[in-house]
Amino acid sequence: MNWGIKTSSGIVAIVATILLAIVIIGSFERPPIESVQRGYRGTGMVENYNPRTIATLAEASKLPATLPPLPAAGPKASAIYKNVQILGGLSVGQFTRLMASITTWVAPTQGCAYCHDTKNMASDALYTKVVSRRMIQMVQHINADWKPHVAETGVTCFTCHRGQPVPSNIWFNNPGPAHAHGMASTETGMGLVAPAAGLTALPYDPYTPFLEKDAVIRVQATTALPSGNLQSIKQTEWTYALMMNFSTALGVNCTYCHNSREFGDWSQSTPQRVTAWHGIHMVRDLNNTYLNPLGKVFPANRLGPTGDAPKVACATCHQGVYKPLFGQSMIKGFPELAAAAP
Ligand code: HEC
Ligand code: HEC
Ligand code: HEC
Ligand code: HEC
Repeated sequence: MNWGIKTSSGIVAIVATILLAIVIIGSFERPPIESVQRGYRGTGMVENYNPRTIATLAEASKLPATLPPLPAAGPKASAIYKNVQILGGLSVGQFTRLMASITTWVAPTQGCAYCHDTKNMASDALYTKVVSRRMIQMVQHINADWKPHVAETGVTCFTCHRGQPVPSNIWFNNPGPAHAHGMASTETGMGLVAPAAGLTALPYDPYTPFLEKDAVIRVQATTALPSGNLQSIKQTEWTYALMMNFSTALGVNCTYCHNSREFGDWSQSTPQRVTAWHGIHMVRDLNNTYLNPLGKVFPANRLGPTGDAPKVACATCHQGVYKPLFGQSMIKGFPELAAAAP
């Protein structure tokens, strides 16, 4: 009898061990993993890449065909069409080419009718057309005024939209899952798995304070002894949530931007950290100048749970890659999107 119980509990233990081993091994990434040295040896500044992930991302980063450029000669769009408010300086050929390209980038299956009442192309009845006009201005602004971030690579509608009307990786103000006071999680969603913070238990919504409002990100003391740094552990958790978000958005480790022996020190950081700093300020600008004001134009089903407009984060452009579309530039073929018409 005793013997029997021992055997069965022994079998249970063996099965449990095997299952545990499968779970543990399964949660590691299968080799090969490639690594790139990004700082002095011994500083741990190494970037690890899984070639399978890179292959999938490269596949998703294929550009759509660019239509051949058309001459600027001939009548201007403003002379032919009735309601052209920002693209009037283009020739009719250039204008039509841009409309066709925008359709490929944003609404390839829906076609012109996604933004137009096709019986009256001049009508602004569809919100999608009104939003698009503002989006064209936003793209011109990014390319002309945010060169410290997007450089000469620039962006087009495709950078965010990738052939769909609603880009992936947009965000809304997120109060976190419903909870009773003092139960299960805190007001910030701490203690729950936060998708926006790399599935850690860090604060649930790192977007609102840092990418809409301009909460302070710096938390580290700059002196060895206490000298008035009042940033709390709680604020540090918010900073870390944002940093986890950056890493996921770009598909990189912390050491892509920082030397982890001294996170705050700019002189030990990589040049990419400076680009990222401009990125933070660019994203705040886009959300406050373009997306939030469009909240009045979007229908209710496009707004967030608290009624706010959909917004942009790093991942809206980057989509898991250190440079969106691996740095492939489309803007050279579309000078009308590189800057607003004078
Ligand atoms: C994603 C939205 C979007 C799609 C899709 C789109 N357009 Fe447009 N279209 C616009 C916007 C925005 C304007 C106004 C531009 C301006 O104010 O400078 C416009 C204006 C026009 C006008 C000028 C109408 C007038 O008289 O004022 C024509 C013509 C036009 N589009 C043709 C097309 C064609 C043809 C297609 C399909 C191949 C197309 N559009 C697809 C957004 C779109
Ligand atoms: C920086 C990222 C970004 C770029 C670049 C961008 N968009 Fe958008 N776009 C957004 C976001 C965010 C939304 C809000 C998503 C939603 O509608 O729910 C949006 C929404 C739209 C919508 C409304 C879709 C819908 O069904 O509600 C249209 C149309 C659109 N964009 C057209 C354009 C066009 C045309 C361009 C290029 C001139 C462009 N966008 C460039 C981020 C971008
Ligand atoms: C894409 C670049 C980038 C990545 C990746 C990144 N950071 Fe940052 N980090 C920044 C920038 C930019 C700032 C400074 C923001 C500012 O000064 O407003 C910063 C600030 C910080 C700070 C505050 C420093 C101070 O002065 O108090 C800490 C701590 C930090 N990061 C930790 C991390 C950790 C941990 C990771 C990985 C989970 C990470 N970072 C990943 C760009 C990055
Ligand atoms: C509007 C689209 C867009 C958004 C939003 C955006 N980026 Fe970028 N980012 C780009 C483009 C385009 C480049 C490539 C610039 C170049 O070729 O040098 C880039 C480059 C970078 C680089 C340099 C990469 C390298 O290897 O040199 C970093 C770091 C970066 N972005 C971080 C961020 C962070 C962090 C955010 C959010 C706070 C962000 N980006 C938001 C478009 C965007």
